[in-house]
Amino acid sequence: MAVTNGNSDKERLIVFDTSLRDGEQSPGVSLNTEEKIEIAKQLSRLGVDVIEAGFPIASVGDFEAVQRIAREVGPLMEGREHIGEPMTICGLARSTPGDIKRCAEAIQDAPNRRIHVFLATSDIHLKHKLKIDREECIKRAVAAVTLARSLVPQVEFSPEDASRSDPDFLCEVLGKVIEAGATTLNIPDTVGYNLPEEYGALIKHLVEHTPGGDKVTWSTHCHNDLGLATANTLSGIRNGARQVEVTINGIGERAGNTAMEEIVMAIHTHPGAFPVYHNINTRLIYPTSVMVSALSGMMVQPNKAIVGRNAFLHESGIHQDGVLKNRQTYEIISAETVGVTDIALVLGKHSGRNAFRERCKELGYSAINEEEFQKAFVDFKNMCDKKKNVNDEDILNILNKIETVPSKHVEL
Ligand code: KIV
Ligand code: ZN
Repeated sequence: MAVTNGNSDKERLIVFDTSLRDGEQSPGVSLNTEEKIEIAKQLSRLGVDVIEAGFPIASVGDFEAVQRIAREVGPLMEGREHIGEPMTICGLARSTPGDIKRCAEAIQDAPNRRIHVFLATSDIHLKHKLKIDREECIKRAVAAVTLARSLVPQVEFSPEDASRSDPDFLCEVLGKVIEAGATTLNIPDTVGYNLPEEYGALIKHLVEHTPGGDKVTWSTHCHNDLGLATANTLSGIRNGARQVEVTINGIGERAGNTAMEEIVMAIHTHPGAFPVYHNINTRLIYPTSVMVSALSGMMVQPNKAIVGRNAFLHESGIHQDGVLKNRQTYEIISAETVGVTDIALVLGKHSGRNAFRERCKELGYSAINEEEFQKAFVDFKNMCDKKKNVNDEDILNILNKIETVPSKHVEL
């Protein structure tokens, strides 16, 4: 379990995963219903509090997927008993009666269910996209939340493009939707425009100046267009947000959403810096990342924080020597904490004798004499000039060519 769990002086951070909704909006990603159910089950085991299972009005397939997730993953699932409550199943809806009713129908069999309604509030969206004025915007938002709240106990409202909306207008709209029954207010940086200080200041302003703002949960929803989604989300938490909307591997529209693994591990490594705890089982982070990557077809970049192939590999000889002596010299997180179990040092031209000697031992050559070892090391370095990474088979070839070295099965 996360070490931050159970801290009595901390507030619970609700982890809202939108891999199956915003994540599925990643160009090129399309998941079938069975794949969505597999991912939803894994997110439930991982300890996610709310899953945005889809956008039911978008297609019959989307509706059916959300409905099956509500039925099959909605009840308290095996592997989640330690959390003691079922995951909330959420569906997205525009602020129209048709969307909202369809969404309510899709999630109705889940014990904990939520409708997430959204409506743009920035002048640029009101003028050019919706072609309505601010007064009409408030009317539609209130009507949508009122209808949604008559259908389910949890209603989340998102003022789309909040980060480019007039903050005073936002306070007005949000105050009205609280009166209409909204339970969570989500503040999207839809276009990934904010800097961390700006986004944090926006959350603080809204929490402090929205009438009834103390009665609801405030939520972050950040996009990564400037590579700032994680920083912005953390800034939101520090300024009063108690829900984070995230995806596995940061998948999502355009440059993606805030990556769950980055938020969870930032809090894990800096428990004193954030006034929150979460229910995420960190040891399931890597297996979940692998599953989402395989099913969605979205490769994880090798240098991606926490879950990239290189995240726990050390290539430089100086670093390899350090971690062989004590892993903390160059690691802030142990690979096992996030469920990575098969870590080996990458052997290449930057590797030193210590790392090479260690790998020889791991391959069974613990008893070669110093002269043989030095010869093997020279051969290894020569090979590194020809090949970027030298694998175990290459090393075995080198060792086997040294005449006096016996087979790896024979101890000297
Ligand atoms: O980025 C966004 O504004 C969204 C909303 C639907 C919440 O995804
Ligand atoms: Zn989004």
